[in-house]
Amino acid sequence: MTTDTTGTAARDGEPRSGGPADSPFVRACRREPGPHTPVWFMRQAGRSLPEYREIRANVPMLESCRRPDLVTEITLQPVRRHGVDAAILFSDIVVPVAAAGIDLDIVPGTGPVVAEPVRTAVDVERINPIGRDDVSYVDEAVRLLVAELGDTPLIGFAGAPFTLASYMVEGGPSRTHAKTKALMYGDPELWHALCARLAEVTLAFLRVQVDAGVSAVQLFDSWAGALSEADYRRYVLPHSAHVLAGLNEAGVPRIHFGVGTAELLGAMGEAGADVVGVDWRTPLDVATRRIGPDRAVQGNLDPAVLLAPWEVVEGQVRRILDQGRAAPGHVFNLGHGVLPETDPEVLTRVVALVHELSARPAA
Ligand code: CP3
Repeated sequence: MTTDTTGTAARDGEPRSGGPADSPFVRACRREPGPHTPVWFMRQAGRSLPEYREIRANVPMLESCRRPDLVTEITLQPVRRHGVDAAILFSDIVVPVAAAGIDLDIVPGTGPVVAEPVRTAVDVERINPIGRDDVSYVDEAVRLLVAELGDTPLIGFAGAPFTLASYMVEGGPSRTHAKTKALMYGDPELWHALCARLAEVTLAFLRVQVDAGVSAVQLFDSWAGALSEADYRRYVLPHSAHVLAGLNEAGVPRIHFGVGTAELLGAMGEAGADVVGVDWRTPLDVATRRIGPDRAVQGNLDPAVLLAPWEVVEGQVRRILDQGRAAPGHVFNLGHGVLPETDPEVLTRVVALVHELSARPAA
């Protein structure tokens, strides 16, 4: 018998056990068996929690992302309350772009709003490279969190080039992404220059988080589902692939997620993900056929189902766990973020139910 630094006994010849790298969440991402199906929720830290609303009451969103004490407390809130298998850093996809020099704000009820949208080559030049000193508050928050979380893994994240480009070009949230697509089709050279810049910002932001100790990263391409597969492959995939390949040596699982991506699931996996996030529109067994045997899946309860009676929630959780058994690894999650009106008690019950239904006897 050997004893590792966490004091957990490990049998000779077996990998060291204990610590976040051996958690059910990281094991599922690596397609390794674990004691139960791990579960966390996109936007688990947020307005569904009264303790979040209280701490954020007089602090604007971007300011809260730049205060390591607040980031740490808000990130820990859903871990304490729900017993989820992973924490996700409290931040926003536009935080690194603001650090890169773009004047923007996050407006409550709207989302990111950019003061001067990026539409010309000169505008693209305004997006500066970033390093650790530009986001030192993230470095500090991750270190504080890793120390607090113990064996619970912390997920770092960033926005993928397409989704960030959409906010930069539109100047704010958009239903059609019309200006973004007009630039993409009308001036491919400028489009690729913009995405290449954003990819460097994203990669640098993720490297800061990895160096500070996150156990996994999620690349959010939330709005990629607005594109056909052909256009995704031509205009977007190379830039997301650059980000994901830049983390090849980092040794942490990479999750890649978007909404409405049924037609893109295979391509998003090929971009270099270890885990592909699936929204509620595609059953996980169907998604697995599209993604192939070499990647795990994450998802995919419709967040709106959490507003339905408990019997409905329970039935949907059972279905998703059953369909997830077709995948070589399954991380239970929602198909998109927690809705603010969700009763947090229901989230806690879902965590317990996933753990109970998926419990596997120790090998
Ligand atoms: O718990 C977590 O998931 C971590 C926190 C997190 C936030 N934003 C906090 C946040 C994460 C992972 C994000 C990523 C993010 N931000 C994405 C990708 C994920 C997704 O939802 O697809 C996108 C597209 C954004 C841009 C953005 N920021 C939007 C659309 C909004 C909502 C605007 C609103 O008020 O409805 C934000 C603001 C934001 N980011 C909030 C939170 C908790 C709400 C701000 C508040 O509480 O006042």
